[in-house]
Amino acid sequence: MSSSVTSKNIKRYTVTSALPYANGPVHIGHLAGVYVPADIYARFLRLKNRDVVFIGGSDEHGVPITIKARHENTTPQAVVDRFHEMIKDSFEKFGISFDVYSRTSAPIHHETAAAFFRKLLEKGKLKEKENEQFFDEANQQFLADRYITGTCPHCNHDKAYGDQCENCGTSLSPAELINPQSVLSGHKPVMRKTKHWYLPLQDYEDMLKEWILEGHKHDWKSNVYGQCKSWIDQGLQPRAVTRDLDWGVKVPLDDAPGKVLYVWFDAPIGYISATREWSEKSGKDWEPYWKDEQSKLVHFIGKDNIVFHCIIFPSMLHAEGSYILPENVPANEFLNLEGDKISTSRNWAVWLHEYLEEFPGKQDVLRYVLCAAAPETKDNDFTWKDFQSRNNSELVAIFGNFVNRTLVLTHKYFDGKVPAVDNLTDSDNQVLEQIARYPQTIARSLENYRFRESLSEMMGLARLGNKYLTDSEPWKIFKQQPERVKTILNVCLQICANLAVLSGPFLPFTSQKLFKMLNLETLLWDQAGTGDLLAAGHAINKAELLFEKIDDAQIKAQTDKLYSTRIANEEQQQEAVEPLKEDITFEDFAKLDLRTATIVHAEKVPKTKKLLKLTLETGNDQRTVVSGIAGSYNPEDITGRQVILLANLKPKKIKGIESHGMILMATGNKGKLSFVQPDDKLPDGGVVS
Ligand code: MF3
Ligand code: ZN
Repeated sequence: MSSSVTSKNIKRYTVTSALPYANGPVHIGHLAGVYVPADIYARFLRLKNRDVVFIGGSDEHGVPITIKARHENTTPQAVVDRFHEMIKDSFEKFGISFDVYSRTSAPIHHETAAAFFRKLLEKGKLKEKENEQFFDEANQQFLADRYITGTCPHCNHDKAYGDQCENCGTSLSPAELINPQSVLSGHKPVMRKTKHWYLPLQDYEDMLKEWILEGHKHDWKSNVYGQCKSWIDQGLQPRAVTRDLDWGVKVPLDDAPGKVLYVWFDAPIGYISATREWSEKSGKDWEPYWKDEQSKLVHFIGKDNIVFHCIIFPSMLHAEGSYILPENVPANEFLNLEGDKISTSRNWAVWLHEYLEEFPGKQDVLRYVLCAAAPETKDNDFTWKDFQSRNNSELVAIFGNFVNRTLVLTHKYFDGKVPAVDNLTDSDNQVLEQIARYPQTIARSLENYRFRESLSEMMGLARLGNKYLTDSEPWKIFKQQPERVKTILNVCLQICANLAVLSGPFLPFTSQKLFKMLNLETLLWDQAGTGDLLAAGHAINKAELLFEKIDDAQIKAQTDKLYSTRIANEEQQQEAVEPLKEDITFEDFAKLDLRTATIVHAEKVPKTKKLLKLTLETGNDQRTVVSGIAGSYNPEDITGRQVILLANLKPKKIKGIESHGMILMATGNKGKLSFVQPDDKLPDGGVVS
């Protein structure tokens, strides 16, 4: 395989992980799909003593962030400030070992992205084009991407966005939507002329064919290769790289007010900006990491990002002229949760910040489970049951149990000193030979981005140790054959030391703990594979538990929590917000005679469930109104309440009672009604307008 580190003389590695949108916290899907594998890879390379920069950061532009800010009545900057900190903190606590975690609202990024755009423009790589786009007249604004919704022409889903249908996954352009609607005003937008810059992707078709279809047919994952091929086969089209929007990197030209770079143009440049930021802090030159042919660039992403990282960004890099292209883009599929798609809006997710509170100190457990069940070749499912059983029957019963028994016995029989080997039997030698193969076997899987496989190989070593110890039964033979026990425990301790090294990329906290327990300085990958990591006589530290059992109650608490939010969501979803009615004129409105009035008496209307007969003081008269509010209010609770009365509604007989007017009620969930009431008690008869 050409992806192997040995095929090309690689001097350094640039490892990037998709920049998460800073409009919400991160969940297990992010971790499993991108950050755990990327971190394992980066940690592995460091243990191999390679020169590596591992890049992360927040993606802080784009329409959804501005929409969220609008909903929350705040600014986009305030939104991204909040989530940037939160996401960064979660990653840090999970041991995602970024060399830099930057953000695209940083000045260095604005500068880098603007310069990139300018360079493409100067080289004639961008085409300026005027065309018609949707414009919201009420808000005097062009409607980019998610500011516009409508019916998907492919699947008829009625809430498709201007850039994508989330139901069928097709990427769309706003003009394709049936019944387009402005998210801002709810109105049908009009078409208006606007000027934008386009990257003519079709110009890079030959380059992409040669580079991906011929060059990476065998070393890229088939899901990634397949998507690329289908994009290229369909024929590539010019892509607009600017938008009419006031949040993002300003188009760096005098005659482009109100225009910013498209978020998918600026965000990947964020990898470069982040490397520059790192360079300023570390004093290292950033350029070779992006421009030297002997650098290996690897992008870790989820499958929805493939086209941007394999087609569009490489075309940008190629057009700019001085950059290298990625060597690999090991995109993962999606992680589901308890059989259902993870969804932020439905709160069907396990949030990292919540996990950290509910399972303190158990970051490695989640890392382990997410790697073991990573959606590497197809979508995969996370279940709490699986989480529990992998913890209890793998981490606790195999890895933890083996290490713990070894260390406890060493203290018990040999006062915590590594016993010397007495005489190696055939079976000891076989075990030692197997140990020798692990570093290479695991490395080969890691170099080929097969993280599940590499993890299970690492666990194979723990399994080997556990079995060797169980089969050798030192506790049974110590009295008769103490010399034999010395050898057994020496071998076991050497396995523990090997595990400390080889578990490092996967279980960084455990690995550190184990090194400490063994009283050993951290070792490099290539030092593992031998039976002499621990010298005879070396004093180890006290044994501590590496893992603890997780009981049924803890698991039930998690599934209860998940399903309770689902039930709440379903209830809420049934109560879809009613669509707005047609416009009326002010004259229509002025016909309504709305007044303050006070309930002076209330009683149930016999033989009805919902009706109350109310007597109202209106300031002008006392009158009877029949109101359908018995489901929401008891008659005895509402006398004295001030309400708003529609006073000039034609009188009508209801259940034999003449009702003269109507009280304004607001509708809540499940048909619950609530009085619309003045803020202060006012004189009755006041006009409401
Ligand atoms: N924010 C994007 C997402 O979450 C990923 C951006 S990756 C980058 O899907 F390359 F653009 F930075
Ligand atoms: Zn669709």
